[in-house]
Amino acid sequence: MKALITAGGHGTRLRPITHTQNKHLIPIANKLMLDYALDYVREAGITEVGIIINAGDKSIEEAFGKGVDRGLNITYITQGAPLGLAHVVKISKEFIGEEPFVFYLGDNILVGGIKRFIDDFNRNGSNCHLVLSRVPDPNRFGVAQVEGERIVSIEEKPEVPKSDLAVTGIYIYDSHIFEAVNNIAPSKRGELEISDAHQYLLDKGYIVSFSEITGWWKDTGKPSDLLEANRLVLDNLVDRRLGDVDNQSSVSGRVNLGRDVKIIRSNIRGPVIIGDNTVIENAYIGPYTAIGRNCRIVSSEVEFSIIMDYCKIENITRRIEASLLGNDVRILRARKKPSTHRFMLGDQSRVEIE
Ligand code: G1P
Repeated sequence: MKALITAGGHGTRLRPITHTQNKHLIPIANKLMLDYALDYVREAGITEVGIIINAGDKSIEEAFGKGVDRGLNITYITQGAPLGLAHVVKISKEFIGEEPFVFYLGDNILVGGIKRFIDDFNRNGSNCHLVLSRVPDPNRFGVAQVEGERIVSIEEKPEVPKSDLAVTGIYIYDSHIFEAVNNIAPSKRGELEISDAHQYLLDKGYIVSFSEITGWWKDTGKPSDLLEANRLVLDNLVDRRLGDVDNQSSVSGRVNLGRDVKIIRSNIRGPVIIGDNTVIENAYIGPYTAIGRNCRIVSSEVEFSIIMDYCKIENITRRIEASLLGNDVRILRARKKPSTHRFMLGDQSRVEIE
């Protein structure tokens, strides 16, 4: 079995972070988003992986290379234009050949990996196996209508959903999916929709089975999804403390401190992960916070946030919460009078002050 993982798209709802960075390289609990997908496929015993990237995007290949150190053999496949997920499958035929494969949308994160779904696909002798999850907002997703043990219809982002069962971004196919993607027409938004390919398989009487996710699953489109995914991953954090904690600091709960981290006169309340070489001084770091490498947080409080590498936060009196900071962001207190707010913000930055 092979795996096909998407890492393209434009991440418009995550600007400004995605002005300079592919969304799949955003860290969730200090691990690159796409590394979750790669870990899941590796755990399932798959080593041949195709990653779909936007034309001209070198960043994914720079981050993962050929995948040798991850025990993988990665091939990069360019999607020239955003023509839909079924189009992604279509252009990957040469890479896939005749083998069954997992199609995994690289912005999906879940607990427990994907091996169990592959086992279900094999057990059911399916042509297509879908992974469903109950959601409060099904109109944002492909939606499956299920009767008894059977899926009877699948619609993409319906205005009036027939159920609350979202089709997640984890699909397992045999080669009949290529017949489907070659026989559907573009939707109103001009894309070849993966849901239409699934409906084609149902209409032709192919075996479309499904599993329901019982734990949590997230498709990380918006900033709040990233914070939520970060929270959920940190809930399973393993305590590991490589850094130095001075005797005037208090570190409680599950905390992961990287190499050469310094905690000075501070209070860290886990679950919290802090990357290598970061200094926390006279500060409070509260639950569900991930701080990257080489940051400095001094005389400030941070909670429920993702702070990427090389950030500086100094002398900020109000607690920073539910925030997402890209790399090398500085939030500092102005030293000179008059006491004013001074900003240097890129396009589509967001600042909320009291
Ligand atoms: C895509 C699919 C949709 C699926 C979702 C899961 O939507 O088109 O059917 O439910 O992924 O993540 P998108 O996130 O591209 O809007």
